Amino acid sequence: MQDTIHLHDKVKEILYSLTGITLNDNKDIMIANRLQKLKRDTKFDGNLDDLLVAVEQGRFVTEFINSFTTNKTHFFREDFHFVDLRDRVLPQFAQSGKEIKMYCSASSTGEEPYSMAMTVAEVSETLGSRIKASILATDIDTNVLQYAADGIYRYAKSSKEFPDWIKPQKYFKRRVQKNLASEEILIKVKDDLKKMITFGVLNLSDSSYPFERHEFDVIFCRNVLIYFSDVDQNKILKRLFKHLKIGGTLYLGHSESPQDLINYVTRAGQNIFVKNKDID
Ligand SMILES: C[S@@+](CC[C@H](N)C(=O)[O-])C[C@H]1O[C@@H](n2cnc3c(N)ncnc32)[C@H](O)[C@@H]1O
Repeated sequence: MQDTIHLHDKVKEILYSLTGITLNDNKDIMIANRLQKLKRDTKFDGNLDDLLVAVEQGRFVTEFINSFTTNKTHFFREDFHFVDLRDRVLPQFAQSGKEIKMYCSASSTGEEPYSMAMTVAEVSETLGSRIKASILATDIDTNVLQYAADGIYRYAKSSKEFPDWIKPQKYFKRRVQKNLASEEILIKVKDDLKKMITFGVLNLSDSSYPFERHEFDVIFCRNVLIYFSDVDQNKILKRLFKHLKIGGTLYLGHSESPQDLINYVTRAGQNIFVKNKDID
């Protein structure tokens, strides 16, 4: 028992130092399962203590990080954010002809940035003017980034994943695949959508980000801050905020709050914040 506590504390310590993620006390089963999987994936033939020593010495660091991230996501998650993007933000860019630069800061397997891109395509079509848009999508987990760049998803025809205003057949090609449940198909993102997005690795707990001040018109930072302590959430938000233009929009996840940014933003909807001044 003592050994397990020690082992799990070590995992938490290493994970925090590499990613900033803080694991709560009730995560013992999750830690045990993921450690076993890490051992299998790396084909490490010592015990778990030795495996963690190896990680501390710089071996299997990527595999360790990829094992302990939680990547749950889906297309048009919290769809009111995409409705806001569609109705309030994007029409301004259709009108001005200026490029909109968007940042998706924890893009996981890609459903979130592809939902942003579909929203751009939809508004362009509706308003009859092609909006110039670029989307940078980053995550710390290299496995999910590869998955996102491939852009192939399982899709159950009965699912309600896409809102009524999106017709998935416009944005995905159907792929024939045997051995799938009968109502499921594989869908692949079309190139037009892919072209809008650049995927890359970025650790939100890094002390600075490689962007210009005021680089982005829109930042999505959703359902990732929950993995950090309050103090670290605040630090990440302040770092991200520097790169958001005045008048730009920050979207946060349903249980995340803007913390110290509160006096520098105007609320435009549920966890939607428009920047009105710089914090420093
Ligand atoms: C639960 S998913 C959320 C995905 C998407 N934003 C959404 O709302 O559906 C959280 C993502 O945050 C990423 N993540 C965790 N720690 C991170 C860090 N320090 N830097 C960048 N991404 C991180 C994970 O790899 C994971 O893909």
